[in-house]
Amino acid sequence: MDEDFLLLNPGPVPVTDEVLQSMAEPMVSHRSAEFEAVYERAQDGLDYVFTQSTLSGESTADDGTSLILNGTATMGMEAAVANLVGDGGEVVSLVNGKFGRRFARIADRYASVTRVEADWGESLSVDDVAEAVTDDTDVVTMVHNETSTGLLNPAKEVGQIAADHDAVFVMDGVTSIGGDEIRLDDWNVDIAITDAQKALAAPPGVSAMYVRERAAERLDGESAPFYEDLDWHLRKADSHQTPFTSAVPLFRALAVAVEDIESEGIENRIARHRRQSAAFREGFHAMGLDSFPNTDGPTQFSNTLTAIALPEEIRGDSSEKFFDAVKDRNVSISGGQAHLGGEIFRVSNMGHLTSEQILRGIRTVGEAMQEVGVDVDIDAGVETAEDALDTKAVSASDD
Ligand SMILES: Cc1ncc(COP(=O)(O)O)c(C=O)c1O
Repeated sequence: MDEDFLLLNPGPVPVTDEVLQSMAEPMVSHRSAEFEAVYERAQDGLDYVFTQSTLSGESTADDGTSLILNGTATMGMEAAVANLVGDGGEVVSLVNGKFGRRFARIADRYASVTRVEADWGESLSVDDVAEAVTDDTDVVTMVHNETSTGLLNPAKEVGQIAADHDAVFVMDGVTSIGGDEIRLDDWNVDIAITDAQKALAAPPGVSAMYVRERAAERLDGESAPFYEDLDWHLRKADSHQTPFTSAVPLFRALAVAVEDIESEGIENRIARHRRQSAAFREGFHAMGLDSFPNTDGPTQFSNTLTAIALPEEIRGDSSEKFFDAVKDRNVSISGGQAHLGGEIFRVSNMGHLTSEQILRGIRTVGEAMQEVGVDVDIDAGVETAEDALDTKAVSASDD
């Protein structure tokens, strides 16, 4: 791949050379002490990310176990639901984007599901959630950072409703954990799930979850799919192993990636992600473009990815020329998913992007827009983004 290639898709995200190199080391047995040491390093780093992701770095939970799954986060989402309501039960699933819908579809396979829905990109109504969750509800599923639309859902409010009814709150934090604030205690999160290739900045193929006591007590391994038996995973995690053959190179890469997060300091990392997403958002606005998600109501803009509405003249099939013009500049961004295809574009600031890379992303989008005939003010976009980045301060943690 060209040295100059800039990957701005919301996962996989760029990884460091150290992460890449860790995967080229000689193979070891997944039952060896060497591998157990790798798993333990990854677990320690994950404990830090799951429980200390605040702007002050304070701890938000200490009663759970971090475990790593040989599969992406969709496996984690299914594992959580199947272990909690594998032989039936009541699930309330919040849906205002593609990944919320995926969680509901997974739950459909195991339980009776009540959906609380909003249009993709709109705020979920907390009142609707309060109405849907009852004392019969076993599990509430919610995607914290909806990758398909670039918005943050109200974890605290939803977690409180789940706790009031003694339901287990399962939160997909796939594109927030490692890049944004996560408060497991304050938000009553019982299981938090994330993917390696997103804000943790590791390669794709494995995922991680933090299972807290209240959820662990309710797991029913007997009714879970054999490969996803979380009781078994938790038992093995105590001895830093997986029940079945581990994806050894991917576990090594994950260990290095989470140690990188500790070196940066999670509070610095969260602050940097906030500056960088603000730079993307405010830069695109100054250029003359509009955000896609609507932040009326309890939702907020994502701090890890930005979704922008395509100007009317290049929507639908005509959007292809715009995406080609971005690609010609050796930058990779994402379009919309499902019915949002041809309606929006999305860029990520997850991982280790520098200020220069953020500014290049803005300039590239502006140039591609101009090439397809959209009148945007590139200089205004870049200048505004520079202000948001407060370039000097950010460079310190970017280096
Ligand atoms: C919010 C969210 N949840 C879950 C997933 C899991 O996807 P996968 O299993 O394909 O990695 C993704 C991936 O983009 C996501 O963004």
